[in-house]
Amino acid sequence: MSQFTICTYADGGEFIEGDTAAIAWDVLRLTGSHRDCEVYDLTRTPHLKPYAIACLAASAALQRQKQIIPTVVPPSNNACNEHLQRLGLYEFFEATENRQVWSRSSNLKVQKVTYPPGRVSENAAEVLTDGIQLTAGVRPQIVTSLDEVLLNALSHAESPIECVIVGQGFPQSGKVEVAVVDLGIGILNHLRRNAEYEQLSNDEEAIELATQDGVTGTRRGTRNRLNEQNSGAGLHYLRKYCEAGGGECTILSGRHWVTYHSGERVVGRLKQPFQGTLVNLRFFAAPGGEEGEKLCVEW
Ligand SMILES: Nc1ncnc2c1ncn2[C@@H]1O[C@H](COP(=O)(O)OP(=O)(O)O)[C@@H](O)[C@H]1O
Ligand SMILES: [Mg+2]
Repeated sequence: MSQFTICTYADGGEFIEGDTAAIAWDVLRLTGSHRDCEVYDLTRTPHLKPYAIACLAASAALQRQKQIIPTVVPPSNNACNEHLQRLGLYEFFEATENRQVWSRSSNLKVQKVTYPPGRVSENAAEVLTDGIQLTAGVRPQIVTSLDEVLLNALSHAESPIECVIVGQGFPQSGKVEVAVVDLGIGILNHLRRNAEYEQLSNDEEAIELATQDGVTGTRRGTRNRLNEQNSGAGLHYLRKYCEAGGGECTILSGRHWVTYHSGERVVGRLKQPFQGTLVNLRFFAAPGGEEGEKLCVEW
């Protein structure tokens, strides 16, 4: 029987920043490999960030697509177990016996999104910003950003599971974190379909290019597979917003991930390619949000 067991030690060589980051690389490797898995053993998990939850849900959804019914062994850490329940992860697995936990108003439960996404972004922004004293204009920004990222996943990725979204709002620090993942062809492969970019061969360059204004994999004068036009503005706009200090955006696709944040650009390389695209967004939704974040730790 194929099994995935989460580990609690840093596995080295990648982007290690504390335990949770190290654990997430396990999850990323599992998810990005599309490999068969029947049992997801999370016994030793102390915590999972939204992007890792999105990945586990996507991986579980892929198993169902392959006629495998995945089961989960919940974390022995009770706070983590309740956290995963609140965020709806177990609904992607065969029913587990878990007692009911209270939901939190700022938790966006993990859900599969299919085309057309309808009001998913509006609803997500409302849930995620609940209880936050918002800086003017932040909520529409979150809606627009999520719309762009979801539509990208649904129109460009050709993902067997469409895509998955999950997020958390942190009312104390005024921060919002939300992740969208698909298991599709990746940014590089899509961009290469446009003759202007067919020479591209590197995921980092592809991500960098995709976040520039007017760059699209949809060939000039044509429409995408959903019969929509593409202007190549979506990711550029999101990147600019983050670089101006409004948040942080990490795009992981193929062998690379790139984070855009307050003028900075951080790049990392994966040992094994991630077959799909993961976009992790953080918004500093309240005045002084980024500073406030450092002062408190919230689940
Ligand atoms: N989830 C994804 N899967 C595959 N390719 C993607 C994905 N997201 C973005 N891309 C690539 O990045 C390009 C730029 O995206 P974007 O700036 O939103 O412009 P547009 O969607 O108008 O083409 C897309 O045209 C596509 O080639
Ligand atoms: Mg787009």
